[in-house]
Amino acid sequence: QILNEFCTGYILVGEERTCIPKYYLRFADEIKNFEVKDDDIWVTSYMKTGTTWTQEMVWLIANNLDFKGAEENLNNRFPFLEFSTICDLSRQYEIMKVPQSERTLNTIEKAAKVKSPRFIKTHLPYSLLPDQIKNGIKTPKIVYVWRNPKDTCVSFYHHGILLEKWKIDLETFAKLFMADKVLYGSYWKHIFGYWNLRDSPNVLIIRYEDMKANLPSVIKKVAKFLGKELTEEQIELLTKHLNFQSMRENKAVNKEGYVNQLKENNLSIKDGRFMRSGTVGKYKEELSAETIKKLDEWIKQNVSGTDFEKEYD
Ligand code: A3P
Repeated sequence: QILNEFCTGYILVGEERTCIPKYYLRFADEIKNFEVKDDDIWVTSYMKTGTTWTQEMVWLIANNLDFKGAEENLNNRFPFLEFSTICDLSRQYEIMKVPQSERTLNTIEKAAKVKSPRFIKTHLPYSLLPDQIKNGIKTPKIVYVWRNPKDTCVSFYHHGILLEKWKIDLETFAKLFMADKVLYGSYWKHIFGYWNLRDSPNVLIIRYEDMKANLPSVIKKVAKFLGKELTEEQIELLTKHLNFQSMRENKAVNKEGYVNQLKENNLSIKDGRFMRSGTVGKYKEELSAETIKKLDEWIKQNVSGTDFEKEYD
C-alpha cells in the first residue's frame, strides 16, 4: 500500500470495496446524508483525468464567463467534497502553518455552506455519492470527465511523487493501479458507475482526449447541458483561458501556492508542477513496453463485450 504523509492507512468501503484512507469513516455518514440541491453542479471524476480543467470550464460557463470572479481560488469556488476524508487536514495545516481562520477541518461542511448554485467537486465513485443523488430524490447536474487509463496512471504516479513524496517506482505503481489498490480504488468501477447513467438528463460524460482534440466542441456540449448559450467570440475567449499554458500560469487553478508550501516544508520534490504535461499519449515515454502490454490486456479484459468498448476507441 502507498501511504500518504497525511493519512494513516487505507480501508475498503462500500458495496464496491473502494480503497480509501480510513479517515473516510469519520465522515462516511455525513457524505451519505449530505443535503443535495437540485441546482447544484457537480464535477465528478477519477483522479488525474482533467478534473481541474473541467471544473474551470464548468464554473465559467455556468457563471456567464465571469473571468473576474474566476480570479478567486478554484478550491473556494468549487469545494472538494471529501478532501477532509482523504487526509488529516489538521496535521497538514499545522505543518504548513495555515492561519487558524483558514483551517477548514470539514470540507463536507464547507461544500454545504457555499452560496447556491453550488459547485461541488468529488472523486468519489457513484456508489459512495450521497443517498439523495443515488435514490433520485435530488437531480443536480453532474459532469463526469474520464481519461485513458494509461495517461491517468502516469499522471496519478506523478501526483503522488509531487504531493505525497511517494518512494515507489512507476512500474510498481502501475501494478497497484491495475489491482485497484490505490486511492479511490478501481478505475473501471469508477467509470462504469457513471457511464451507466449516461442517458440520465442530469448527467453529462466528457473525455479529456476530446477536450485536447477539440475544446470548443466540448465547451458547446457543456454549455448546452448547463442551459447556456455562448457566442463564437465567447467560446474563443474561453478556449484561450482554458489552454494548458494559460491554466499553468493561472494562480487560481494551478495549485502552485499549495505545492510551493509543500516544497518549503520538504514535503515535495524540488521540481515538478501540478500542471505537469497536459498531453495525450505521453505514457509511451515513461512506461516500459512490458507494463504497457499488461495495461492493454487489462483494458481489453475490462471493456470487451461492454458498450463502453466503442467509446474507448
Ligand atoms: P498530467 O499529469 O498528465 O499533465 P486532475 O485535475 O484531475 O488532477 O488532472 C490533472 C491532469 O490534468 C494533469 O495531467 C494536468 O496537467 C492536466 N491538465 C490540467 N489542466 C489542463 C489543461 N488546461 N489542458 C490540458 N491538461 C490539463
